[in-house]
Amino acid sequence: MKITFSIIKADVGGWPGHVKVHPDLEKIAYKQLIGAQRSKILKDFHVTHCGDDLELIMTHTNGVDSKEVHELAWNTFLEATEKARDLGLYGAGQDILSDAFSGNVRGMGPGVAEMEFTERKAEPVIAFMMDKTEPGAFNYPIYKIFADPFNTAGLIIDPSIHDGFVFDVWDIKEHKNVKLKTPEEMYDLLALIGAKSRFVIKHVYPKKSSKLPSDEAAAVISTEKLYQIAGEYVGKDDPVAAVRAQSGLPAVGEVLEGFSHGHLVSGWMRGSHNGPLMPVSVEQAQCTRFDGPPRVTALGFQMHNGKLTEPVDLFDDPAFDYVRKQSQQITEYMRVHGPFEPHRLPMADMEYTTLPKVMKKLGKRFTNVK
Ligand code: F6R
Ligand code: MG
Ligand code: MG
Repeated sequence: MKITFSIIKADVGGWPGHVKVHPDLEKIAYKQLIGAQRSKILKDFHVTHCGDDLELIMTHTNGVDSKEVHELAWNTFLEATEKARDLGLYGAGQDILSDAFSGNVRGMGPGVAEMEFTERKAEPVIAFMMDKTEPGAFNYPIYKIFADPFNTAGLIIDPSIHDGFVFDVWDIKEHKNVKLKTPEEMYDLLALIGAKSRFVIKHVYPKKSSKLPSDEAAAVISTEKLYQIAGEYVGKDDPVAAVRAQSGLPAVGEVLEGFSHGHLVSGWMRGSHNGPLMPVSVEQAQCTRFDGPPRVTALGFQMHNGKLTEPVDLFDDPAFDYVRKQSQQITEYMRVHGPFEPHRLPMADMEYTTLPKVMKKLGKRFTNVK
């Protein structure tokens, strides 16, 4: 049976500031989605948050880009926005960038990661959710998971993944994509995805030689950039991803290993700073210090006939204490730089922040150097 696994998320109000989602908003989302499950639009769902982002994890048989499912998510965010306004939450309706729903939430503010695939006998799926960062933050861990033999032992020792994978990379500036195979094209792949503010991994597919269908994604990442939709900085494009695991794909532990380093990502404080990505439990997914540091949560499900088990909060484990500690040390180190690059983003990436407004004021005072 083909099932669609959809994660649709939006920041519709924070508590306090941009720290966290208020539980009343999660309750509204739960009520909407359970109604949709009863009326058979959804097979199953789970509502959660990462920082100030409300996350809707849904399974159904409507395929990707389904009008019904997107409309459900959109209406859920609208109702949650109303509640956020009632409660006086911060930035209520922040990611609702359009007045009217036109069939798909893409380009309207929310972030989307969806994949449709033939469910295996036992189907482990992990939902990753990040706050205070951008879609390119997934490039490093997704590359490691599916292409780096120092991360994923199976690439060397498991014949079912030894041939490697196909990466679908999007140029989010030119709106083009290219598919690259690993291991044979890994240097080309790295040439692109190292530039993470422009080239982002959208999907990873099994190769034709795999026992899994090569047109059904093993991983999908949301790539929405809010400033490209709104034309200016309006909020954060905090990304989400779904990754399938085991039997012909990297093991759950190999998938999680991709997040064991606290790599530097962009999007911290005012969307304008680099900092370490700290893996945390849902309980710890609240952005405090300097509105961060950037965080990632991971919920692991077994899926069966589209039904989801209760999730396991995968970073809620002492095995990730060390990377959390390391992320805090990196936080200390980066913060000392204050407004200096590379803590603050380079000028080109500041173009869509509030900095140009400050620079405009100085414009007239510049004279030609003789
Ligand atoms: C929001 C974020 C925050 C805000 C900052 C300023 O996701 O990254 O760091 O950018 O708190 O917020 P405003 O401009 O709303 O006062
Ligand atoms: Mg916010
Ligand atoms: Mg956010």
